[in-house]
Amino acid sequence: MIHLLATGGTIAGEIDPEAGHGRYRAGVRPVEALLAAVPGLADAGPLSARQILALDSKDMAPADWLAILAATRASFAEPGCDGVVILHGTDTLEETAWFLHLTLPAGKPVVLTGAMRPADHPAADGPANLLAAVRLAARPEARGKGVLVVMNGMAFGARRVVKARCSGLDAFESTEPWQAARADGRFAGLAPDALPRVDILPGYAGAPADLIAASVATGARGLVLALCGHGSVPSAWLPALRAAHRQGVAIVRGSRASGRVEPDANADDSGEGWLTAGDLPPPKARIALMLGLAAGLSGDGLRAALLDCGG
Ligand code: SIN
Repeated sequence: MIHLLATGGTIAGEIDPEAGHGRYRAGVRPVEALLAAVPGLADAGPLSARQILALDSKDMAPADWLAILAATRASFAEPGCDGVVILHGTDTLEETAWFLHLTLPAGKPVVLTGAMRPADHPAADGPANLLAAVRLAARPEARGKGVLVVMNGMAFGARRVVKARCSGLDAFESTEPWQAARADGRFAGLAPDALPRVDILPGYAGAPADLIAASVATGARGLVLALCGHGSVPSAWLPALRAAHRQGVAIVRGSRASGRVEPDANADDSGEGWLTAGDLPPPKARIALMLGLAAGLSGDGLRAALLDCGG
């Protein structure tokens, strides 16, 4: 049996007639109505469905990731569960997928999907995505791949998938097809009540350094720097970063460009005590850092976990 967990998103969205301009509200249509709109679903095998959240995924918070993790672990523990499908808004889908990829044990397939068009669109993409996700979750070949993402007739591994375009059915892309994906689950033993706050600070021409102190003063235990180029730290940021590091805040040098940020290649990471994001984009490096901190890692342990996650 496949367990389907619905969390909202455009796949459960409906046009908002009052807003005009084709605007819609995400996460309003209940899961039963979504299932009823999928021709051929009954032939895909036994399915159970549960509405666990009803969010626009821009409002998804770390506490919601923990709720989705708990629901997925509960499904895994049920006899007869062969895999889990999660319906999710597309805006932060890759973040939830990566979080679950690091926190679920290898084994049963978990497939996230969503839609770029609301459920009441005349050519809604949600029904086909839902059916494809259920079918993939039921395939024995999907076991051991970790968390997968299905959109627009394609499937990808959680590690490299990104929403690369803000509109269009082909919004998602990855350099890793699902067949090449590997399960991770390095934090599968973790069951935190909450996750530590980690902020992402963007680098750009003239980016102010005082955002660093503001983040630390309001509770950040880690900072991921989404810097220009090869993780180039603005000179004006150095005093604030050093002060944050002295206060025990973990600092990860990442880039807003794609590619690998190499340790010590463009900054004195060893001397400063900074970590590097490898090839993880800042939102995914943030999640790895949150989990590392939640696991009590620091210093070399945190560095090793991030380097290993970040390729
Ligand atoms: C959302 O992320 O919940 C809204 C946008 C979408 O699902 O495409």
